[in-house]
Amino acid sequence: MGAGYVGLVSGACLADFGHHVICIDKDARRIAALKRGDIPIFEPGLADLVAGNVRQGRLEFSVQISPVAEAEAVFIAVGTPSRRGDGHADLSFVYEVVREIAPLLSETAVVVTKSTVPVGTGDEIERILREKRPDADIQVVSNPEFLREGAAIQDFKHPDRIVVGTEDEGAREKIADIYRPLYLNAAPILCVSRRTAELIKYAANAFLATKITFINEIADLCESVGADVQHVARGMGLDNRIGAKFLHAGPGFGGSCFPKDTTALLKTAHDHGAQLRIVETVSAVNDQRKRAMARKVVAALDGSIRGRTIAVLGLTFKPNTDDTRESPAIPLITALQDMGAKVCAYDPAGMEQARQLLPSVTYCDDAYVAAEGADVLVIATEWEQFRALDLKRLRRIMARPTIVDLRNIYRAEEMKRAKFRYVAVGRADLESGRRAREARPRQMPITRAPALQVESAEAL
Ligand SMILES: NC(=O)c1ccc[n+]([C@@H]2O[C@H](COP(=O)([O-])OP(=O)(O)OC[C@H]3O[C@@H](n4cnc5c(N)ncnc54)[C@H](O)[C@@H]3O)[C@@H](O)[C@H]2O)c1
Repeated sequence: MGAGYVGLVSGACLADFGHHVICIDKDARRIAALKRGDIPIFEPGLADLVAGNVRQGRLEFSVQISPVAEAEAVFIAVGTPSRRGDGHADLSFVYEVVREIAPLLSETAVVVTKSTVPVGTGDEIERILREKRPDADIQVVSNPEFLREGAAIQDFKHPDRIVVGTEDEGAREKIADIYRPLYLNAAPILCVSRRTAELIKYAANAFLATKITFINEIADLCESVGADVQHVARGMGLDNRIGAKFLHAGPGFGGSCFPKDTTALLKTAHDHGAQLRIVETVSAVNDQRKRAMARKVVAALDGSIRGRTIAVLGLTFKPNTDDTRESPAIPLITALQDMGAKVCAYDPAGMEQARQLLPSVTYCDDAYVAAEGADVLVIATEWEQFRALDLKRLRRIMARPTIVDLRNIYRAEEMKRAKFRYVAVGRADLESGRRAREARPRQMPITRAPALQVESAEAL
């Protein structure tokens, strides 16, 4: 139920394992497109996977919910956006699906929640089903999804783990059977209680959001002290206890999951009288950061932005997706426009979505059209095609040779050679590095550190 990023990818992959899958969505245009062979989202490899499984008769699409009556398992993969006003996950789509399918479900069906839902949602789904179908033995399982847009098929087929949350032995076996092709490939299957499974998803996303925010704040410190955040991150990430992933400084996290999931987790904690002060801070720091990136651009233009032309490359929240939900590029552009700048933008896949959010941007056919006559070029998303821009050509066509690289995809020396003014994130340029060194106290007091008392290896 729900043929979006998660539903369509999961459906196509489960069909590819050999199951018979029907993706149902209430969006008739989406289903009509899928039936014609058009894929409504940008996800590498998905078109071929869908086409292959449709051809072999394992994958179908429907707006009607009648096929639910035949299903052994019904996966719910509808959206759970932030509820307007209080930040709680909006569960109206989930409960709508449950009420719709309840009368049709077979007596032994398993309802599997793949959508990210707060702790206790499974209990409420079970209550609705018991009320509508007191005769049936329908089990409700939590099976959160961890795929990343842009690498969704690889993630679904090679997950780090499969989390199955249920206390019912029969339902657990059914889900394990559906995923058998995966754990034969060594993906661990983690069987836990339903509430635990629901919380694992939120805790994992909040932790990853924390890692990103941590390195972003370290990046700010690097700029003040004349250090390089990329080297700091590498030095940290080589430590196996820390790991290198999610340590890339940038304009703040965005996307369809981290912002809404951290907010919903805080709401759950608040409702239960628990404190999550770290996550609270992460959420607040990240919110401020997105607009703060606009100040970086203003500084690169020496404070004068009114009437200037700014080229923005990348509108999606990350590369290889067309998803612009909570993309840092959106508040950045809004802030620049509020200050009187004209924005020309290009994104390989996200312009259609962005157009609805930012109607007064000039959308361009490629990076060079966007850069033509611009006073500054801002790299907001690290699409592959922005990693090797023709700097000579850019220098020729831009009004001023200035680049603000919010994803740190270029080297300062390369930009210097190409005679660009270059501003990145958390990487002190030569100028600010020199200033920071000069500002340092000349005579550092020499103190001898006391011998380190270590009680156990873990203490390190
Ligand atoms: N996008 C991701 O990367 C990702 C990763 C992991 C988990 N999740 C979670 O998975 C869930 C789905 O996310 P998404 O990004 O796929 O959402 P999405 O908005 O792309 O897709 C949701 C789909 O559900 C359909 N829908 C809504 N109500 C329906 C109904 N009553 N019957 C049938 N279809 C209905 C919508 O038309 C839409 O096509 C969310 O809870 C999200 O947090 C998303």
